[in-house]
Amino acid sequence: MSSTDLKTAATAIRERAYAPYSNFKVGAAIRGASGAIYPGVNVENVAYPEGTCAEAGAIAAMIAAGDTRLTEVYVIADCPTPVPPCGGCRQKLAEFGDGDTPVTLATTDGAEMRTTLADLLPGAFTLAHMEKS
Ligand code: THU
Repeated sequence: MSSTDLKTAATAIRERAYAPYSNFKVGAAIRGASGAIYPGVNVENVAYPEGTCAEAGAIAAMIAAGDTRLTEVYVIADCPTPVPPCGGCRQKLAEFGDGDTPVTLATTDGAEMRTTLADLLPGAFTLAHMEKS
């Protein structure tokens, strides 16, 4: 399945972002292993560090719905080049996907960049790093 439906979901949900401090609205949509789509937006707070990213919102929706793995990610924002997820979100996404899971980063002007979780987070910290034989 193409990411057209993810693009549609992320683009639509972005309008609902709560970003009064940065004025930078981000929409994310992830596909769970069941095939269902989970959208999310950034939700800022006057206590700035308490704000959450769109990717985190989408992940929370996926987990709450009972999907535990993701198979595709789409993130969109109004910026000059396709929006790069922050470092924390790269780790959050890696928790639920595989290295070759496709990720599309986009601008509202129509530019898209296709990448993968492994390319976004090379050398990711994983469960294996806590296991010593
Ligand atoms: N932001 C996201 O929600 N996702 C990204 O991939 C990049 C940044 C948000 C966090 C904050 O609300 C705003 O964008 C500016 O950093």
